[in-house]
Amino acid sequence: MNLKEAFIQYFVEHGHVEIPSAPLIPENDPTVLFNTAGMQPLIPYLLGEPHPKGKRLCDAQKCVRLTDLESIGDKTHHTFFEMLGNWSLGDYFKKESIHYSFLFLTQVLNIPVERLAVTVFEGNDIIPRDEVSAQIWQSLGIPKERIAYLGVEDNFWIAGESGPCGGDTEIFYFRSNDKIPKEFDPQDDRWVEIWNNVFMEFNKDENGKITELSQKNVDTGMGLERVVAILEGVDDNYKSSIWQEIIASIEKISNKPYTGNEISMRIIADHIRTSVFISADPAGIKPSNTDQGYILRRLIRRAIRHAKKLGVDTNCDWMEPIAKEVIKKYENYYEEIKKNQEVVLEVLKNENDKFNRTLEKGLKEFDKLLTHLSGNIIDKDSAFKLYDTYGFPIELTEEMATEHHLKIDLEGFYEKFRAHQELSRTASKGKFKGGLMGHSEIEIKYHTATHLLNAALKVVIGPDVHQKGSNINESRMRFDFSCDHKLSDEEKSKVEDLVNQWIQEDLPVSMKVMKKENAIKIGAEAMFIDKYADEVNVYQIGDVSLEICGGPHVEHTAVLGHFKIIKEEASSAGVRRIKAILE
Ligand code: SER
Repeated sequence: MNLKEAFIQYFVEHGHVEIPSAPLIPENDPTVLFNTAGMQPLIPYLLGEPHPKGKRLCDAQKCVRLTDLESIGDKTHHTFFEMLGNWSLGDYFKKESIHYSFLFLTQVLNIPVERLAVTVFEGNDIIPRDEVSAQIWQSLGIPKERIAYLGVEDNFWIAGESGPCGGDTEIFYFRSNDKIPKEFDPQDDRWVEIWNNVFMEFNKDENGKITELSQKNVDTGMGLERVVAILEGVDDNYKSSIWQEIIASIEKISNKPYTGNEISMRIIADHIRTSVFISADPAGIKPSNTDQGYILRRLIRRAIRHAKKLGVDTNCDWMEPIAKEVIKKYENYYEEIKKNQEVVLEVLKNENDKFNRTLEKGLKEFDKLLTHLSGNIIDKDSAFKLYDTYGFPIELTEEMATEHHLKIDLEGFYEKFRAHQELSRTASKGKFKGGLMGHSEIEIKYHTATHLLNAALKVVIGPDVHQKGSNINESRMRFDFSCDHKLSDEEKSKVEDLVNQWIQEDLPVSMKVMKKENAIKIGAEAMFIDKYADEVNVYQIGDVSLEICGGPHVEHTAVLGHFKIIKEEASSAGVRRIKAILE
């Protein structure tokens, strides 16, 4: 039995119900790119809504984390991974949770206690030091010297800026043949974290205020790839059984051994696996220039370039055998992989064909550029030409530049990028309109109206109003926002009037691509900041609204017509819902 099966079986035997992984791309939430943790789809239930399957759940959740994108190529990072988790929704708490984890590790996986150490939360002004967990660990045979107390940075867990949260206890494994030191030092990287048990008993609101939840929950997460590698005694995740056939197929197609070619092979393996999962997801993502589609494009194109580095003839459908290994590996666990395999292979093939037409010339252009370069900066025009004419995602050019110890004039690049985007918009050429495809004109209008409504609510109700969700179709928009009371008729008409005023003022809508940190610094509104890629689109409407958003939007507000609220109701505790139309 493999780790995933053993984990699920263990928790099912202990009264948990196995739930299927939620889709990789969250439904009904255009502001979030991917699920990044097992708990994400469970947020409403951690906040108190009853889960239809009960209070004890377990699963393997598909996750994509883009913060690690740059690290891919090393031994331990992956863009896609599976997170094993068990949950108590207001049922058991610290004692049972720690017991379950300890017994699973030591009795099912047979990990010797000597190889384990833990961290617990040292406490702060609001939450006391977690002596309870420390005591439980000691009672199970983890000695005092193997328990470290750490602060908020390490042992307090929250997804993003607000939501359910709590102190956690993390379990570490000594991954080395060296003699195990008596005392646990969390800084010593021979100790690797394998499991995180979060005791979610608080909610943090948008102002940073922490209140107790109505129920005490447990949320645990164990990275499958890492633990499999540990159990199999390999110090490189890509040498574990999870990757064996995938790497073997890359060795075959490149006619080169893994040893000596690790970086490119890991990048190809990781990126093709993630691309298979993204394109198989029910959201139907295709490579494009925006949002998840752009991530998919970047992953596939980076894999193609590394295949070329390995000497693979990329003129053929070289990705297919590798993708088929991925499909074979996961089709029994994830039905969308089985169901959508034709689509996946088609996506990979089409993107390969597309990039291949320009790749060779682009690489030549890059080499030529190197010979003419004075200094160590690639100018904006060259970077833009690689992007525009040869289809090189800017991140790919950056990676190639780094390999030659060069930098790119990124600011200049983005300036050109934006100018070009404006141009092609007005010319309606469709070149940069990836994001516009699949959205009807009226949906685009609703999308912009959403931003105006968000801004108007802040003016009328107060600055603490934040978006909690939205949903748009051809006939109406729905907008959920934090607010502790039912809107009065007066408030509703003020909001309507303000939105209509801004529409009449025909405010311009503009977009800037910037680093996430900078977007936050300038005060851009964002729903789930952790879930965006490092570079984000920030949309500005006149001087009334600034939001991180994938788009698309109208160019001027006057085209929206007339805005009308048709319903205002409760959505969940502390969250109100407005339905509105444009007429
Ligand atoms: N939410 C926690 C994590 O992602 C535990 O599942 O680590």
